[in-house]
Amino acid sequence: MSAIEELKEKYRWIYHFQSALNLIEWDFETHMPKKAFAKRAEAIGIISSFVFQYLTSDELGKLIAQAENEAKSEEDKALVYFAKKDYEKQRKIPPKLWQKFSVETSKAQAIWEEAKEKSDFSIYADQLEKVVEIVIEIAEKIGYERNRYDALLDFFEPGMTTEKLNELIPPLKKFLTEAVNKITEKEKPTDMFRKYEFDIQKQKELSKKVLEIMGYDFGAGRIDISAHPFTTTIGPYDVRITTRYDVHDLKNSFYSTVHEGGHALYEQGIPEEYRGLPIGDGASMAIHESQSRFWENIVARSLPFWKFFKPIAEEYFEIFKEYSAEDIWRASNIVERSLIRTEADEVTYNLHIMLRFDIEEALINRKIKVKDLPRVWNEKMKEYIGIVPSNDREGVLQDVHWAHGTFGYFPSYMLGNLYSAQIYYALLNDIDFDKEIELGNFDKILNWLRKKVHRKARTKEPNKLIKEISGEELSEGYFIKYIKEKYKKVYNIKL
Ligand code: CO
Repeated sequence: MSAIEELKEKYRWIYHFQSALNLIEWDFETHMPKKAFAKRAEAIGIISSFVFQYLTSDELGKLIAQAENEAKSEEDKALVYFAKKDYEKQRKIPPKLWQKFSVETSKAQAIWEEAKEKSDFSIYADQLEKVVEIVIEIAEKIGYERNRYDALLDFFEPGMTTEKLNELIPPLKKFLTEAVNKITEKEKPTDMFRKYEFDIQKQKELSKKVLEIMGYDFGAGRIDISAHPFTTTIGPYDVRITTRYDVHDLKNSFYSTVHEGGHALYEQGIPEEYRGLPIGDGASMAIHESQSRFWENIVARSLPFWKFFKPIAEEYFEIFKEYSAEDIWRASNIVERSLIRTEADEVTYNLHIMLRFDIEEALINRKIKVKDLPRVWNEKMKEYIGIVPSNDREGVLQDVHWAHGTFGYFPSYMLGNLYSAQIYYALLNDIDFDKEIELGNFDKILNWLRKKVHRKARTKEPNKLIKEISGEELSEGYFIKYIKEKYKKVYNIKL
């Protein structure tokens, strides 16, 4: 057997353990009895360290080196390229440090939950300090050229740097803060999604319906409930979604479902022969987020969508009959200054990310201290959003990411929004988007995404992929253009 075939076989072998781990983690978040918590966490720790050990083993390193000379096809070259990159990166982190990271972040998550419940940051500060120190140590081991934070960014968005973010952000920040000022002077549309009681059973059925319409394959997936919506790929032909329901808030469940549906379509579109290999994933966290945001915002928050979908929604909730497609569309696009990132609209969302980026970059470079976070948070909220939370729960404690030690992740959400708009304008060159959506034909759009994004999986770096799709590097311009065009109509306003 050639080294390259042997390498693929080894990846597919270890992927079975990864699959088992994904299934166990999915169960952990959805159906597991509460008392099983500690023991299950132990099982997850053992299996994941087993996988990590193999992925950083000398054996795998040798195989990758041998396969490097054999790779001829584009796919095999990509496979070896990403195999080598992942391997070298993971080898830089000493197993003891990795173990310390997983122990301290598990503790941090539990303490964060308590602190959030009591809305008291001081309970959590010391543990978060430990996590930050470990993350700094990891960044130092990984290495970087200019900014320590770049080592972390690269985990989630390969090739992204603090310098590049500092080019993208200022024009976007200026445009968005001015847009929020102008929009919030206007009268707020009626939020019909939050005005009534929406039966949970019906919400579940509506969620399934919209996923089917998008093209999600229920023969290779399912939808369940969890505290925080997510999508996970257990293995080939098994891509699962979770969402959450609130009887007073149809907007949250509906758009969470569509969002996760966008992630799931990406996963279902990855060629099965790539599964388990380093090329068998999304291109990056931000490209993944571009797919979820595309379906959530660009498709399902458009006027053609509501023209098409209103009669369907009426079958589940009669109240939709009392509103025009325009009313519902406006309700789905309400812009307001709000405290919670996950509930933020398209215009304010990126501002929530910018403040997190500022804080993370400063923390990782020791420009600010963990104990000062509540104060810094509130100052930044005032600067970016124009409002200040009255407690830590709705402020600095709202996100779990830092407890998980995932510094450098937040920018992916913003980049995902930028990618989605850039991909949208590329798609407009080939497809009459509004017409197809109004007719409820999602096939052409999905097939375009399949061809340009999904089937490429992780055979390219994200900067190469976006250039191939749009002919250009990532820029903030397309997102600004999209917001201008959209909100001109939603709010009758020039931005
Ligand atoms: Co997402």
